[in-house]
Amino acid sequence: MISPDKIDAVKNANDIAEVIGGYMTLKRTGANFKAPCPFHQEKTPSFVVSPGKQIYRCFGCGEGGNVFTFVQRMENFSFVEAVKHLAKRAGIEIEESRPDPAFTEKESLLAANRETMNYFHEKFKASEKAIAYAKDRGIDEATIEDFKIGYSPTDVSISVYLKSKGISEETILKAGIVGQGSYDMFRGRFMFPILNLYNDVIGFGGRVFDDSLPKYINSKETPVYIKGRNLYNLNNARKNAQDGAIIIVEGYMDCVTVYAAGIKNTAATLGTALTPDQAKLLKRYAERVVLMYDMDEAGRAGAVRAGDNLFAEGIETAVVSFGDVKDPDDYIKKFGVAALREKIREAEPFMEYRIDRLAKQGDINNAYYKEKVIKEMAELIEKTDSPVVRDNAVKMISKKLFVGYDVVARYFKVKDGLAAQVGPGIDMDDNLALKNKGADAAEKMILSMALNALGTENEAVILKHIQERREMQGMKYEDFKNQVYAELMIKIKTYFKEGEREILKRIEMDYVDNEDINRIISELLVPKISEGTQKKKVHTEDMMQEITDYVTRIQKEKTALEIEDLKQKINAAEAEKNTELLKELLARKSKLQKVMQSIAD
Ligand code: GTP
Ligand code: MN
Repeated sequence: MISPDKIDAVKNANDIAEVIGGYMTLKRTGANFKAPCPFHQEKTPSFVVSPGKQIYRCFGCGEGGNVFTFVQRMENFSFVEAVKHLAKRAGIEIEESRPDPAFTEKESLLAANRETMNYFHEKFKASEKAIAYAKDRGIDEATIEDFKIGYSPTDVSISVYLKSKGISEETILKAGIVGQGSYDMFRGRFMFPILNLYNDVIGFGGRVFDDSLPKYINSKETPVYIKGRNLYNLNNARKNAQDGAIIIVEGYMDCVTVYAAGIKNTAATLGTALTPDQAKLLKRYAERVVLMYDMDEAGRAGAVRAGDNLFAEGIETAVVSFGDVKDPDDYIKKFGVAALREKIREAEPFMEYRIDRLAKQGDINNAYYKEKVIKEMAELIEKTDSPVVRDNAVKMISKKLFVGYDVVARYFKVKDGLAAQVGPGIDMDDNLALKNKGADAAEKMILSMALNALGTENEAVILKHIQERREMQGMKYEDFKNQVYAELMIKIKTYFKEGEREILKRIEMDYVDNEDINRIISELLVPKISEGTQKKKVHTEDMMQEITDYVTRIQKEKTALEIEDLKQKINAAEAEKNTELLKELLARKSKLQKVMQSIAD
């Protein structure tokens, strides 16, 4: 545990532009620096470093954060490792103080997992059985090292070892390394440690050596392991995604054997469907995703669900098929890695895969089934904001189903031009888009204005105005749709009330190791201003008017929803002939309608 003061000192001693400048050449543009983003492939630089705000942000991939986040990402460090690294750089000594219980639950779980990984890895090297199994599966020594493959022995319990390392019984149980009654969860298994993007060990998977069941045992979810938010081997895969593509397979074994064969940009979902969170994660590191799932029914269905989620994130996706071979691992065994590479090159665009599969699942000559297919495809395709992707999809559906383009197009809702996607960062155009959006965007804009006012001459005026409008209209942060924005607004409010001088700094320190919040803060603090254009001078009065508008919009939307809800209840009460309730509901409705009136004025 490193004390917050120390963390603060380390942060102050490491200027972000100097640190990042040590990794790449930064070009000055006005108050900021610019460079091609180190976290994704790009031709025109959209990576901005702000020395004034001590944050960085990429407008291409959405990466952003403080100096610690940057080093974590570049070096695959955990937060603590990043602090230690930067402390060393600045010649600051770090003595770890007594553990702080709130902070240490996660840290101790990670420590227990790391010790366990090392222990299993050592045991692997001493186990003829495990070594022979790895060899049989085509896993070479370098790969064993890269993945820290392990063996969970049957002799002594791992818990004895962990306790000798000072790890508590409670932590060992909580980490799921042993079960109740202290039996070793993974006893006698071939072990795959699961690492996150910062190389923290967050969980394990263990395979039996024979055909007994269950074939795999996986760690349960813990505070450090949330299954739907991690991908196995993404830490390595993203570094090896030279052409911007990441391959997704279903299991540990496929991932490891494909890697061993030289295809290193592969990550795995581990027995579950690829979630929307995982799709978002992939969007940060991949321009294109290739799904290489098992050739059974579960695998095909999984590819559809994964593809749908990736499509919704706007990621180009393709699907690999290899006929009657079960999985990529078996395919390499049978035909070699060159043949697998060829299959990857030939991967079918997801849209085509999707419609081909639907076409196989029913009688495609039947007009009713055709319509069903078109409707299902339309529902998916509407998630894209790209007119080109849409047009392509409509053409393809029309061709595959022998239905005229115009007929297919009729199944698509017409999109208004204004609904352009609001990408990361706010620039003048984005601002316009945001202004035209609903309460979500209004919440974001209020937070953005508050954050940007911090530390400026406008701080008090703006924060007071937000407070006043909020009180006047009865807006509660708790009602925000976005809980993170709410939390940040509450922080700002509280610190302001306490008379804190450096609110922004306080908040940044509160979240110094929270990558999600860091990304949001940097997104809102570094506005996207095209090169050459000067930031327009914004008048305080205009800002106040804007704030008023946003608060109004949030309240309006909330009230409208409440009225909608009441209407449904009223219908139900009418149907039930519950006059008592009906009277009450109608009264409530008319009251809300008055509120709505007053807001609109
Ligand atoms: P090999 O049989 O060693 O080639 O592994 P595989 O990757 O071919 O296995 P399979 O396709 O059966 O499983 C893919 C993934 O599903 C695994 O990596 C596990 O994450 C998960 N899985 C498979 N079997 C089990 C099981 O019995 N229990 C649990 N919890 N997960 C499993
Ligand atoms: Mn297999």
